[in-house]
Amino acid sequence: MDFLKPRYTPMNRRRRIYEGKAKVLYEGPEPGTLIQHFKDDATAFNAKKHEVIDGKGVLNNRISEFVFQNLNDIGVPTHFIRRLNMREQLIREVEIIPLEVVVRNVAAGSLAQKLGIEEGTQLPRSIIEFYYKNDALNDPMVSEEHVTAFGWASPQEIDDIMALAIRVNDFLSGLFLGVGIRLVDFKMETGRLWENDTVRIVVADEISPDSCRLWDIKSNDKLDKDRFRRDMGGLVEAYSEVARRLGILPESEVPNGRGPVLVTSKD
Ligand SMILES: Nc1ncnc2c1ncn2[C@@H]1O[C@H](COP(=O)(O)OP(=O)(O)OP(=O)(O)O)[C@@H](O)[C@H]1O
Ligand SMILES: [Mg+2]
Repeated sequence: MDFLKPRYTPMNRRRRIYEGKAKVLYEGPEPGTLIQHFKDDATAFNAKKHEVIDGKGVLNNRISEFVFQNLNDIGVPTHFIRRLNMREQLIREVEIIPLEVVVRNVAAGSLAQKLGIEEGTQLPRSIIEFYYKNDALNDPMVSEEHVTAFGWASPQEIDDIMALAIRVNDFLSGLFLGVGIRLVDFKMETGRLWENDTVRIVVADEISPDSCRLWDIKSNDKLDKDRFRRDMGGLVEAYSEVARRLGILPESEVPNGRGPVLVTSKD
């Protein structure tokens, strides 16, 4: 009864919905689902800096799967359904709220620069910031007033987003602390998920060393995308270290995501 089995759609025949800087979205197998494909592209400073780093997509797919599956398991709603293969995961399609939600525990990056606070200073409490997702405008920081005035999210939705952000921050801080890593800050995206007649806000996109600042607790070594932003090298090694500590990568493995290599004899 082979004809009753769902047909496998080869990647090049799937409908491509969107290609971003780090990921591609394809139409999923069922309505309301998408396939999120992680590329090896690294970009920073609104794509002014760009490189392809072999193996990054594979690592981000695995790390993001791990984080989202755990969030689902503790009752934090997300778009994640399951990982499909080395580079792809099945997700629920949501209407993305055009805000990057940044949660900070320790001063770093733009906060340290703009307010003249030394990088590494513990903040008096966690701070939530909103940035309007708009590459042409360089993702400007906005306030809740802007968010509601321009209708990007309602006051109730902002409350829901902040509650989610705090839960994700608490979960991630503890997760990483347990493996000797300090969660300095992270960015998350949220979206509206419709289920029958109700709509709710869920965590979407990815959570990975591309979107978090992660410092080794003992050495303060950076284990995140700042290695790329600041030309420090060793990005795949750092992401592999995060994956290893989380127990999702065998001790010595550094994936390259290029599949099996044909071994040919030299003579
Ligand atoms: N569940 C989802 N449903 C619909 N869109 C999603 C979902 N999760 C993430 N996205 C969107 O998919 C895209 C992922 O691609 P990528 O991260 O490469 O984009 P990007 O280049 O960073 O661009 P953007 O500025 O839109 O984030 C993003 O636009 C993100 O907002
Ligand atoms: Mg993105």
